[in-house]
Amino acid sequence: MPTYIVLLGPPGVGKGTQAKILAETASLPHISSGDLFRENIKNETELGKLAQSYMNKGELVPDDVTIGMIRARLSQPDCVNGALLDGFPRTSVQADALEKLLAEFGGSVNHVPYITAAEPVLVERLGGRWTCRANGHVFHEKHNPPKQAGACDLDGSELYQRDDDKSETVHRRIQVYFGQTAPLIEYYRQRGLLTEINGAQAIEKVTADLLAVIKK
Ligand code: AP5
Ligand code: MG
Repeated sequence: MPTYIVLLGPPGVGKGTQAKILAETASLPHISSGDLFRENIKNETELGKLAQSYMNKGELVPDDVTIGMIRARLSQPDCVNGALLDGFPRTSVQADALEKLLAEFGGSVNHVPYITAAEPVLVERLGGRWTCRANGHVFHEKHNPPKQAGACDLDGSELYQRDDDKSETVHRRIQVYFGQTAPLIEYYRQRGLLTEINGAQAIEKVTADLLAVIKK
């Protein structure tokens, strides 16, 4: 049976940081809807153009487009044993669609670690984030600085600051999270899949708590 893990939590809580580490440990592909949209933007696809108009405002990309993109990604051969989902689902329509989709693959969501941190922590993390162009590796100028400023430790590519990390967009993203994504906390709690993880701890401690959940 494939294993599907959904990382739930607000913008900036550390989903991407943790997913990169866990994907390797659990030997599952890391599927980030935000990274897939950014790849489409970089490649100037129609999907990228559409997604960018929403992302720049801190709004969610429409469900049908997002679900179609995730369906295509989860159908790839590297997902045969499951996947680690980061940033999807983000609405109850997406969660219902995921349930149906995974049933087609003979699986279901196995674990939903819900990573939490207070809003000022999120704002501070996003304000100091630097992301790598080639593979989306993330750093923080204070909490997780690259060895050499401006270059990724892992692949040497240029580090940049995401357009949607401007303070007005960050506040809108957090509002959108509380309005549209937070209902998924109850959705997965009711299904007995949710485990709350304190995301305000050091990166290594958060990783240890996550590993304890997914090894269950
Ligand atoms: P997306 O790319 O998913 O952004 P997000 O959910 O807002 O989350 P972030 O990537 O900003 O934060 P993160 O939790 O990954 O934190 P990170 O590890 O980088 O989505 C972007 C946009 O795409 C959305 O706004 C929407 O428009 C669209 N979109 C995406 N998915 C969609 C969907 N399903 N439906 C519709 N639209 C969708 O860490 C942040 C910083 O903190 C880094 O600098 C890191 O180094 C640092 N850090 C991490 N952990 C720690 C720690 N423990 N201690 C100290 N610092 C830490
Ligand atoms: Mg991320």
